[in-house]
Amino acid sequence: METTAMINPFVIGRYVADRYFCDREEETSFLIKQIRNGRNVALISPRRMGKTGLIRHCYRQEAFDEHYHTFFVDIYATTSLAEFVYLLGKTIYEELKPKKTAWTEQFFKIISSLRIGFKLNAITGEPSFDIGLGDIQAPQTTLDEIFAYLEAADKPCLVAIDEFQQIGTYEEKNVEALLRTKIQQCKNTMFIFAGSKQQMMNNMFNSSSKPFYQSAISMGLDPIPMPIYTAFAVRLFEERDKTVERALVERVYGTFGGCTWFVQMMMNELFALTSLGGNCGMESFETAWKNIIQTQESSYKYLLAQLAPRQKLVLQAIAKEAVAQGITSSAFITKYNLSSASSVQSAIKALLKHDMIAQEEDGYRVYDYFFSDWLAREY
Ligand SMILES: Nc1ncnc2c1ncn2[C@@H]1O[C@H](COP(=O)(O)OP(=O)(O)O)[C@@H](O)[C@H]1O
Ligand SMILES: [Mg+2]
Repeated sequence: METTAMINPFVIGRYVADRYFCDREEETSFLIKQIRNGRNVALISPRRMGKTGLIRHCYRQEAFDEHYHTFFVDIYATTSLAEFVYLLGKTIYEELKPKKTAWTEQFFKIISSLRIGFKLNAITGEPSFDIGLGDIQAPQTTLDEIFAYLEAADKPCLVAIDEFQQIGTYEEKNVEALLRTKIQQCKNTMFIFAGSKQQMMNNMFNSSSKPFYQSAISMGLDPIPMPIYTAFAVRLFEERDKTVERALVERVYGTFGGCTWFVQMMMNELFALTSLGGNCGMESFETAWKNIIQTQESSYKYLLAQLAPRQKLVLQAIAKEAVAQGITSSAFITKYNLSSASSVQSAIKALLKHDMIAQEEDGYRVYDYFFSDWLAREY
């Protein structure tokens, strides 16, 4: 919903409306086409490129909005099948709560194992759903019931599972096979599996020994093309009676290789720095950059505090190099006082696992550009 209270059109971290969403036209029609033709989709790209935004955008299109019940569940923080089932049940319930149809009224009838969470509010008499993770006693049974419920809907259901690769790390070893079997049996329910750990996702969907092999159309997400993003940014400034130099937008884009979140962060700050009727020029770049680092500083400190001393050293060494090559060479180890090649290697492994660093063709870099700069200069 759009309100006039929203002053900054460079939206971060949520989906507001079409007009603040840049491009993705081809991706949108591709994704919609797959689902409407009965093919599940695996959406794979690096973090912060725009997977979640794309899904939210598609959900607002008539093809989905009118013809499907859409659900979105982010399982990044889950560690077991019970947590997965809990989150799925909760998400579906909350999404349907405002809608009162014959189908939604059947929620607790079909998913009877969750009936324990069904309460009537003593004051309003309204039903509510008060369930905790501990109430998932038999995850497989509840999962069966949830699927049965989705299948009984008056319209087809579409379930997006974000950070799907997480299921590969669950305590239980058979979750992939279990889910695959259930999903395969669905006639009325489609799925989008999104994930940012590219290797894990590719392994899940494209290796012939895995349960999900060839069970979804794989789809990547590249940066939005620079000319399209630039035109978008220029328009958003102009609509609010401000202007921005095209060359500045291009510099911002180039700095982050077009990765959407970083670009939007900078443009949001640059917009904030520009007065009404004013022009935003190249000289604002540094100020915007510094301001962003300043607002993130406490979260950087928190992130660092989570790391083992050796990991911190390696992380900072990489930040100082910007793009680090030959990290296990004796030159690198000596330069940054690291103890040994093997300890660097194990630190790298942990940092990669936590998405603190990224591995690119030309070497390792700290994943977050702002964090990297802060580490290299101020820490
Ligand atoms: N097409 C777009 N136009 C404008 N902003 C976008 C677009 N796609 C994503 N964003 C913004 O970029 C950020 C990262 O996108 P997100 O969808 O969360 O990435 P991912 O799910 O791949 O990690 C979000 O803050 C979102 O608001
Ligand atoms: Mg996401």
